[in-house]
Amino acid sequence: MLIQKASWIAMNGAASTVVPVFRKCFSCARPVRAAVLEVTCDGVYDAVLNGQRVGDFILAPGWTEYRKRLQVQAYDVAALIGESNTLDITVANGWYRRTNAPWTGTQNPDEFLPAMAIAALRLTYADGEDEVLLTDGSWQVSESQVTLSGIFIGEDADMTRTFSFEPVQVCDFPKDCLIPQEGPEVHEQETVLPRNSFRTPRGEWVIDFGQNLTGYMAFDVDARAGEKLSISTAEVLDRDGNFYTANYRSARSQLHYICREGKQSYRPRFTFFGFRYLRIDEAPEGFRADQIRTVVLHSEMTRTGWLESSDPMLNQLFSNCLWSQKGNYLDIPTDCPQRDERYGWTGDGQIFCRAATYQYDVRQFFRKWLADVRAAQHENGWVPEVVPSLTAYKPGGAAWSDAAAIIPWQLYETYGDISFIADMYETMERWIAYIPTVSTTPDLFTGCWTYGDWLALDAPEDYHPATIELSKRGYSNDDLVCSAFYANSVNIVIRIGRILGKDVSEYEALYRRIAEAFRARFGGQLNTQTEKVLALHFNLADEPQALADALAEQIRACGTKLQTGLLGTPYLLHELCRYGHADIAWSLLLRKEYPGWLYSVSKGATTVWEHWDGIKPDGTFWDDDMNSYNHYAYASVADWVFGVACGIQPAAPGFARARIAPHPDPRLNSLSAVLDTVHGRIRSAWKYTGDGIRYEIDTPVPAEIVIGGTVRRVEKGRYIFGETLPAGV
Ligand code: BGC
Repeated sequence: MLIQKASWIAMNGAASTVVPVFRKCFSCARPVRAAVLEVTCDGVYDAVLNGQRVGDFILAPGWTEYRKRLQVQAYDVAALIGESNTLDITVANGWYRRTNAPWTGTQNPDEFLPAMAIAALRLTYADGEDEVLLTDGSWQVSESQVTLSGIFIGEDADMTRTFSFEPVQVCDFPKDCLIPQEGPEVHEQETVLPRNSFRTPRGEWVIDFGQNLTGYMAFDVDARAGEKLSISTAEVLDRDGNFYTANYRSARSQLHYICREGKQSYRPRFTFFGFRYLRIDEAPEGFRADQIRTVVLHSEMTRTGWLESSDPMLNQLFSNCLWSQKGNYLDIPTDCPQRDERYGWTGDGQIFCRAATYQYDVRQFFRKWLADVRAAQHENGWVPEVVPSLTAYKPGGAAWSDAAAIIPWQLYETYGDISFIADMYETMERWIAYIPTVSTTPDLFTGCWTYGDWLALDAPEDYHPATIELSKRGYSNDDLVCSAFYANSVNIVIRIGRILGKDVSEYEALYRRIAEAFRARFGGQLNTQTEKVLALHFNLADEPQALADALAEQIRACGTKLQTGLLGTPYLLHELCRYGHADIAWSLLLRKEYPGWLYSVSKGATTVWEHWDGIKPDGTFWDDDMNSYNHYAYASVADWVFGVACGIQPAAPGFARARIAPHPDPRLNSLSAVLDTVHGRIRSAWKYTGDGIRYEIDTPVPAEIVIGGTVRRVEKGRYIFGETLPAGV
């Protein structure tokens, strides 16, 4: 890349929070045939050439394991070049120079670096001659009109400020980390208009956009210089209908804008928010709700999956699962997009990954993030709990670090692209090789810290685990949970190793020892719902049918309620169905009371919540802490709806062959799923017709269709089946 020849530049002795803008003026006397701008920074930037924004990438250069990998964008700017030119690159803190959230107890070592840019512009003239323009000591820098900006601090802009340019300082800063752009760019995706504007009981002016989303506000205003527009965001209103922001914790989710004279428009340039409501805290006289809108941001991905049912509440849940993906696939897979977190939690990433592959084409998105997982892996083999890592942060432990195996395997299954598993093979080998170095029991994963079945509901009142607050932990045995995930990752390594033609005999022997040790140690202690689910899902149960029956009975006995947390929930409905308890799976899905997927829908949710009772039946909150209304872990249920309720599964990697085995339920009149695979569109729909069920299946590949226990092997085509129900169903 040409950019390697350029120098990093900064503002001399910059001390304020004001975001700097780097400028280069240059002229092109001859006609230009091509012009490519390569640029990156240690924060987030936008580049403006002759008054026009370069490219559509919001929050470029995205978030990567920066010390090792910093993406460089290359933009075709030929259309923007004139005879005399001004190129401005404004560089805000972004993720690179972020302030870590206080709860992490860590400091970002790069927090106090100066804002730096590096860029190279290659101009190719019509006569074939090239000219190269690099960031160097000839550039100028000024404070910009953005006076404060950060991922967790919102943005302040003062349009009355004037620029005062001075020479830049050339910095000695590494360039070996520079890599070409790998991920899909984050773009503005859609605009959402106000749905309602009202005064809260407290007298606040609030605008409701009807959708919890990730992005920012954008407005047009005609103002006097110095007039202010201050806007706060919120995901929900409190019980009394007042604006509620406590669940953002230390994140300041606000925009403060000082107007210049006249007509103007603005949207934050270097940050984003997670919200549904805006509160107008201050505005120029006469400002109206229709002058403001919201802009949805996420990584560029093509939609691949659609679900539709006869139940409006279920359809809302499907929409919520989709919006939780949109809101959390913003350059990296995040846990949530709003509070002082927005980190790439590896556990959440793997939990939701299968659902994600049904809803969107996530190949490019994960190709980049998995490269960061590789880069972030500790030399001992552990994979951090968040990627990109927060320096000096902890290993992920079971289920979080296992993302290194689970995600690539899922991507291979969905897309059939061997490079996902080939690229990650060594990483997963190193992760499973690390486990015996810390485990207290040979062939099991015990005695190590883990988040366990995070947020499970089954802890008795007097249960006080040593390391984590009571309210966040379930009652499943950590050693059992960790060992089950260990077995699964070793199993994935074996499967991948075979595909890659490796000798996996040692892993096979290891797997046999783990499975045996698991059965011997935990076989008689599969007590909680999650313990049973994991043993079933990872094929570690001695008598799976009896265990599944016991699981079904346990769920029934506690009022048909799930008690599972982040680890058990994604597999729960799958395992119930696999062992003949589809009716209970459906009961859990359709449950409108806490804890159930339709409970939050009944409370008006438009995204999936972190806690089943984020808002309790009486309108109070679960808590101010850890209370995200856009958390996709439980949106993983979408993979059950696509893969089991509609029954669309790959029978060969990448859906080269399909298995279509729907599981209808009479409590729902109809359900249909459409999935665009790399081999074409699959559709599976069922509908109750009075005395039977009508199935419609389209498959672009040979398929095995399983209906009412009958297996049919078919070629590609459209198939319609009728199933007559026994009287009384
Ligand atoms: C996140 C989770 C994450 C967890 C670790 C939380 O703060 O939001 O979703 O996996 O920490 O247990």
